[in-house]
Amino acid sequence: MANQIGNHSPQTLLIITLISLLSISKSFHETGAQETGKALIESTCKKTEYPEECISALESDPSSFKANLTGLTRIAVQKSESKLVETLNIVTNYVLNSTDYLTWGFLVFCRDSYNASVPQIQEGLQAFDKLEFEKSYRGVEAVNKAVVACDKQGLKMLSQVNSLLFRITKDAMTILDLLF
Ligand SMILES: *[C@@H]1O[C@H](CO)[C@@H](O)[C@H](O)[C@H]1NC(C)=O
Ligand SMILES: *[C@@H]1O[C@H](CO)[C@@H](O)[C@H](O)[C@H]1NC(C)=O
Ligand SMILES: *[C@@H]1O[C@H](CO)[C@@H](O)[C@H](O)[C@H]1NC(C)=O
Repeated sequence: MANQIGNHSPQTLLIITLISLLSISKSFHETGAQETGKALIESTCKKTEYPEECISALESDPSSFKANLTGLTRIAVQKSESKLVETLNIVTNYVLNSTDYLTWGFLVFCRDSYNASVPQIQEGLQAFDKLEFEKSYRGVEAVNKAVVACDKQGLKMLSQVNSLLFRITKDAMTILDLLF
């Protein structure tokens, strides 16, 4: 019995080769710098642990739709920063409202760790613009570690905001990883 390849004429083989080359070049373009918009947001976020949070964070910034992978990554770092500041404000409000001494102590711990990670993520953004992606990664990672530390305090009123900040920073770290 003749094998499959042996049965094809040279013309057929040429056509098969051309089709393969075309599809390779097509997928190269799709994953490359030229892909932008919703498709790039989705394909990038699909590589993260929390794609839904990733997509909604990126899509909340209209410039995501015309950004390439580098642009999207910067937006992911920016979103980590704005979500951190938002969370810090929420925690600060709880600190001011707290009537129970023990809870107040845990809240102050969280406020201080979030506050301390603000300059770190800001340095991370500056590093990004100098194309120092590993340094930028460490800035986002600092926020992610602050969430983990705060979450250990077991404050129920923070579990939702903490969870979202954890996910957004984790996804930003994954996307940053794609750049280096
Ligand atoms: C990505 O887009 C920026 C402008 O937003 C541009 O400066 C940069 O060269 C682009 N990168 C690639 C790899 O195309
Ligand atoms: C703080 O207390 C005020 C007045 O009791 C209340 O309206 C507000 O919602 C509280 N804020 C938080 C974050 O619990
Ligand atoms: C937050 O951190 C800044 C330094 O980045 C510091 O000046 C400020 O006092 C801190 N705020 C609180 C409430 O700890």
